[in-house]
Amino acid sequence: MSQSTLRLGIAGLGTVGVGVVKLLQQHASLIALRSGREVVPTAVSARDRKRERGVPLESYRWFDSAAAMAESDEVDLVVELIGGEGGVAKDVVERALAAGKPVVTANKALIAHHGTALATLAEANAAALAFEAAVAGGIPALKTLREGLSGNAIDRVHGILNGTCNYILSTMRETHREFADVLADAQDLGYAEADPSFDIDGVDAAHKLAILTSLAFGCEIDFDAVYAEGIRNVSASDIVYAEELGYRVKLLGIAQRNDGGVEQRVHPCLVPLSSPLAQVEGVFNAVLAHGDFVDTIMIEGRGAGAGPTASAVVADVLDIARGAAAPAFGMPQARLRSLPTLPMSRHEGCYYIRLQVVDRPGVMADVTAILRDEAISLEAMLQRGRAPGEPVAVVLTTHETREDSMQRALEQIAHLDASLEPPRLIRIEPI
Ligand SMILES: NC(=O)c1ccc[n+]([C@@H]2O[C@H](COP(=O)([O-])OP(=O)(O)OC[C@H]3O[C@@H](n4cnc5c(N)ncnc54)[C@H](OP(=O)(O)O)[C@@H]3O)[C@@H](O)[C@H]2O)c1
Repeated sequence: MSQSTLRLGIAGLGTVGVGVVKLLQQHASLIALRSGREVVPTAVSARDRKRERGVPLESYRWFDSAAAMAESDEVDLVVELIGGEGGVAKDVVERALAAGKPVVTANKALIAHHGTALATLAEANAAALAFEAAVAGGIPALKTLREGLSGNAIDRVHGILNGTCNYILSTMRETHREFADVLADAQDLGYAEADPSFDIDGVDAAHKLAILTSLAFGCEIDFDAVYAEGIRNVSASDIVYAEELGYRVKLLGIAQRNDGGVEQRVHPCLVPLSSPLAQVEGVFNAVLAHGDFVDTIMIEGRGAGAGPTASAVVADVLDIARGAAAPAFGMPQARLRSLPTLPMSRHEGCYYIRLQVVDRPGVMADVTAILRDEAISLEAMLQRGRAPGEPVAVVLTTHETREDSMQRALEQIAHLDASLEPPRLIRIEPI
């Protein structure tokens, strides 16, 4: 070996932490060959020392305090796998970077909220900060943007960024069951947390999108600029109607750079059945990027779980071991731009709307008059189960229009006497 051993301190021994330890133990010689040096865990930290974790840990020094481990002379590189936007995880990362030690983390919440400050701290201390595992698990999405596509001006990056939501939507489609029912199953199977709100309300995907946006467009990370809407309101009937119209429902994260600025949005979308994203099912994730020279590329794989996430963590560790770590956001911090945010109200696109109305003469005339007054033109209409005086679902799709016009129209439609529930809207993405 040409260089000294790289000693890792692993903070957090949960799903990902144990996966990383396992991978490092199983592939120790392969990793040494690829990085040109031994890469070994020497220290670990978690809350409960007594917990059986299914991997041998006796040869590593145990730290009750992950922060003390980060500053220990026995550790050259800190792997943060505790999680959480602030608290101990942030403290551990800050202490390691301040001590000039490289950090690898899978913590999307931490990077989405504090990425700029942490990358600046890393740069000031000539320490690498890497977080491949924070976005789309085992898919090398960040490396692809930062390295594989580094010769391109990128104007769009989007994808399926949350496996829990994709699993729920795929299962709703396959089984015709409602959201709450499928969510309960996903929790039993371990695909959804006991508190699933981060996943199903789009927050987790928004964290990942904010990171992708920064790397793709060379701008400062701005989590607050991401519009996030989850999948709670998608019904089994929306999924059926979407299929009839030639679409599949997916929760997408989309970042688009236009002349006026940057649009960052996470919400359920109708994607054409013929699009490659429609075929990405279950817990799988996919990321697409469009560059001016490369055109569109797509990468797909497992977006979470011990193995795929450990794979991404160890790839970052290897880059650092080789001395090949790139700047956290692809360029020096001072060169990242602050690009204007395009608010959701200015989004332009096509829409799917589902109305639940009383079937009586004149209702559709009222609805179409409201749409006409907002300059919204219809593309298609579906109506099922006509029975005068009874509730009926009406599904409409529109040509391209502005979000604010659409929201005004839905507000008015909701106030019609014949409206039985608030209209449901899903945006159509022509991917
Ligand atoms: N799970 C995935 O598939 C996945 C995928 C991509 C990214 N990530 C990210 O990876 C990170 C870890 O996720 P995970 O699923 O592995 O979480 P997890 O299973 O909940 O594990 C968290 C670990 O942190 C330890 N911990 C908690 N507080 C601590 C403290 N104060 N000091 C030291 N250790 C502490 C816990 O200790 P005890 O075990 O003793 O309680 C546990 O070992 C998160 O940022 C997550 O967003 C996870």
